[in-house]
Amino acid sequence: MFNSHKAPVKKLLAATLLLTFLSSNTSTGDEEKAPIINYKTRFLPEIGKNGMVVGPEKLAAEIGLSILKDGGNAIDAAVATGFALAVTYPRAGNLGGGGFMLIHRQKENQQTLIDYRETAPLGAQSDMFLDESGKVDRSRIYFSHLAAGVPGTVAGLLSALERYGSLPLEVVIKPAIKLALEGFPVSYALNYEIKSRAKRLAENPEAAKLFLTTEKSAPPIGSIFKQGELANTLMRISEKGRDGFYRGLTAQLITEEMDSAGGIINSKDLDRYAAIERAPLRQTFRDYEIVSTPPPSSGGIHIIQMLNILEELDLKGMRLNSAKYIHYLTESMKRAYADRSKYLGDSDFVHVPVTELISKKYAKTIGKGISPDKASPSKTISPGDVQSHESPDTTHFTVADRFGNVVTNTYTLNFSFGSHIAVPGTGLLLNNEMADFAARPGVANAYGLIEGQANGIVPGKRPLSSMSPTMAMQNGSPILATGSPGGSIIITTVLQVILNSLVFDMNIASAAAQPRVHHQWLPDTLRVEPGIGPDTIDILEQMGHNVATSSRTLGRTQSIALKDGWLYGATDSRRAGGHVASY
Ligand code: DON
Repeated sequence: MFNSHKAPVKKLLAATLLLTFLSSNTSTGDEEKAPIINYKTRFLPEIGKNGMVVGPEKLAAEIGLSILKDGGNAIDAAVATGFALAVTYPRAGNLGGGGFMLIHRQKENQQTLIDYRETAPLGAQSDMFLDESGKVDRSRIYFSHLAAGVPGTVAGLLSALERYGSLPLEVVIKPAIKLALEGFPVSYALNYEIKSRAKRLAENPEAAKLFLTTEKSAPPIGSIFKQGELANTLMRISEKGRDGFYRGLTAQLITEEMDSAGGIINSKDLDRYAAIERAPLRQTFRDYEIVSTPPPSSGGIHIIQMLNILEELDLKGMRLNSAKYIHYLTESMKRAYADRSKYLGDSDFVHVPVTELISKKYAKTIGKGISPDKASPSKTISPGDVQSHESPDTTHFTVADRFGNVVTNTYTLNFSFGSHIAVPGTGLLLNNEMADFAARPGVANAYGLIEGQANGIVPGKRPLSSMSPTMAMQNGSPILATGSPGGSIIITTVLQVILNSLVFDMNIASAAAQPRVHHQWLPDTLRVEPGIGPDTIDILEQMGHNVATSSRTLGRTQSIALKDGWLYGATDSRRAGGHVASY
């Protein structure tokens, strides 16, 4: 018994040695050299050469990859993945929500951003979420028909495809239709995600019909999950493009539901919705250039602002996640979020002093207020004095193709399953993105963020977001593309992935896996993930930080690093079901 086991092992060893010998001696020197993996690290990325899709769910990522293999570019694959996630990842993948897509086009050497954030309906009013006593009515702003902004996802995905894709809409949307129509086996992750929201979903008969069994529980793991009505909606989009959603039957079903349940989105709101192409924000960070989201997202501004503050410090010398390092990170976070509370909103409606906020000069000024060994209590930090020169639950995926194009996209219904309200006959969930407005300036929103008048409700305006699809460039080419869900936590999550990659030279899997910290000015709490050592926490507390070990993970990144012609992908292991599809 013992010997019969040993013999094959010996044989295998001999074969391996022979192969090693042959391969090292028959090399012509012309072959593509495999990338060097640094085994000194505890986490390894997936590796690809010709194309990669990193996302929160396997079937949708594989659909993106099949589009790449069939000759599509990264934009085609991103749009296919976006539509597929609306089927396979209903907690955040969506047709009824909105988001931001950052695109790098290699041949044109151009980066552009598609803003498909939801808008406030024309009937919206600044005090629409206040009760008689002037308090924010949380149930109205989170879970009613009024919570929904005019959806942007379909317009966003279609305009990305029209402008920069290479394949017809029917081709990229077809796999999503097939999945919705024929169904797919319920994964552990999907079962878990529905189970966690089952109680709330059960309150809306239409959502219960779509997502729950007759006993009002999550469909069992392995059962086939079909969505016929969603398939029909996708087919209307496939046939008629944006008119298949913003006009005709889909629009009619949405407005009928609004009319019958106290909502205010009407046919004019839907008809006039447009995705907006914007220039992304840019700023240098040491030898790199950071390219990220402009308003109505706050993400790009604050990621850049914090990097500006941290740029000149010897971060590497402090060492990753030492008390000193976390102290400086935290102090930069507090100052950025304080500014967010005052200056940020939709720049098409209010003046946002973007240039000033992302300037190195401004960072120097606010950086001066940071003590090297003492926490500044948040109550002593006010939004900075910006000299304005004005004349008068979310998901992320990242795609890279063999042509050098890269797409990194965050989109959302806001909460997991949005408002938990489904529109009869369409298979789609309504977002609750109106909750991202400052319903009452100065009162914390769902993420504890304090916001000002700049983010007040105005018809047609886009609520301030934290979504931050971001790229880091070196010599004009992307070397890193990343993003995350997590509401207010998105911004600090993306910041730390950038620092881990660019300052601490980590591969992308290690960069994603390191424990993270988060501070957002108010509340004055430094949230740390398990993994930040107890001694470090003691020192931080001695410095005056109010440290709380977070019971929930901070963010969930989906990233691709690009180096020497190779693609390195990492799906954050903080949540189940993520996938790197590559070839
Ligand atoms: O736009 C925003 O900032 C939020 N609506 C994002 C929500 C989110 O990330 C929820 N995911 N965990």
